[in-house]
Amino acid sequence: MTTVRVLSLIFVSLVLLPAADVGAEDADAYRVELGKMTYRTYCALCHGMAPDTGLFADALKKPAPDLTQIAKRNGGMFPEERVKAIIRDGGVSGHGTMRLLSWERYFRQDTPPEHADEVIDNVTYYLQKHQAP
Ligand code: HEC
Repeated sequence: MTTVRVLSLIFVSLVLLPAADVGAEDADAYRVELGKMTYRTYCALCHGMAPDTGLFADALKKPAPDLTQIAKRNGGMFPEERVKAIIRDGGVSGHGTMRLLSWERYFRQDTPPEHADEVIDNVTYYLQKHQAP
């Protein structure tokens, strides 16, 4: 079993944990936590996760942007739909160096397909909550 598969299994169980009996605040924190797990598993290798820079950082010809700076680079506004589109479709604009990299495809393999949108929503939400002021 590959490391990716093992991570995926952990990941699937996290997505499917029941969010039962939680208040709105807890549900919010829970969503951020799920997004964080996705980020740590699929994104941090390239984009880094403070205080660590990504393990792949040196291997990339063009460094992966710091995703805590998205809002700052966009006049203080977090472009939620654009970010989701980049994650969903890959090479729309952001992953232009890797045209085939659609995270949705991976998420559809690694989670029950009907959860793929939720995974994208949660990781986007995590990013939104971690924007630099
Ligand atoms: C293999 C390395 C790699 C991985 C893994 C990766 N990215 Fe990226 N990402 C990049 C690179 C490189 C760019 C910049 C591409 C460009 O500008 O053409 C980028 C750009 C982006 C952008 C656009 C940022 C902006 O300000 O325009 C977003 C959003 C993004 N990535 C989200 C993610 C998410 C979410 C994940 C995990 C699900 C992820 N990336 C995984 C390498 C990666």
